[in-house]
Amino acid sequence: MIELRDVCKRLGERQVLDHMSFRVPKGMNFVLMGPSGCGKSVTLKHVIGILRPDSGSVQVDDQDVQSMDRAQLMALRKRMGYLFQNGALINWLTVAENVALPLREHARVSKSELQQRVHEVLGLVGMDHAATQYPPAISGGMKLRTGLARALVTNPEYVLYDEPNAGLDPIISKQIHELIVEVRDRLGVTGLIVTHSRACATQCGDRIGIIENGRLGIEGSVAEILASDNPLARSFLDGGTD
Ligand SMILES: Nc1ncnc2c1ncn2[C@@H]1O[C@H](COP(=O)(O)OP(=O)(O)OP(=O)(O)O)[C@@H](O)[C@H]1O
Ligand SMILES: [Mg+2]
Repeated sequence: MIELRDVCKRLGERQVLDHMSFRVPKGMNFVLMGPSGCGKSVTLKHVIGILRPDSGSVQVDDQDVQSMDRAQLMALRKRMGYLFQNGALINWLTVAENVALPLREHARVSKSELQQRVHEVLGLVGMDHAATQYPPAISGGMKLRTGLARALVTNPEYVLYDEPNAGLDPIISKQIHELIVEVRDRLGVTGLIVTHSRACATQCGDRIGIIENGRLGIEGSVAEILASDNPLARSFLDGGTD
């Protein structure tokens, strides 16, 4: 389980997180929504320990992330995949080499084990046929699949998804959402998903939390949020299909 308790964080002049609290139980996809600049990415960075709270606590499986040393953070990050916006791939490495990166950082694996694992995970996201291509030559949807394969290659228990459908058309977005659901259901991965998109939230999520003034203004199951007449819920979930 991921749990934030009363996390406060000031960055520059702004109190970005102000007593932010929520829990993501195992096996669930929890969706964080909120306007640009409200602190979604800052929240994800607290979960993997890139940022530390001024006060409050961040826990993963009852371990305090904010008090971890470097070795403990490395161990945590091995258990936690991170899907960056647009995949954030390295252009001069092939798809397969990009996917292999976290394995080279974290684990002592033989070349054949590494190739086997990369092959497996590329198959999972439907990218095996493009293993030798370079990122500039592939589409946005393929980049995202590659980013997802890279996030999954260490066999993580958790994946943090930052805007997994940004810049994709509705059809490709839907395929990515299906993949995120499959990752939860087939691999048992617990997900924390940041998105602006109603489709992403409702197709991938089990629960939705919407950030307002540095904390969750409303939180509930997807069905509860869709049925709620709360103005914050309505402003994020009404209208539009993307
Ligand atoms: N390292 C930093 N130093 C100073 N301010 C920062 C830093 N990182 C983020 N901020 C500020 O914190 C606020 C929240 O940023 P964050 O990146 O979490 O927004 P977001 O909700 O992810 O927005 P978007 O939807 O645009 O990605 C913004 O005002 C941003 O300028
Ligand atoms: Mg962001």
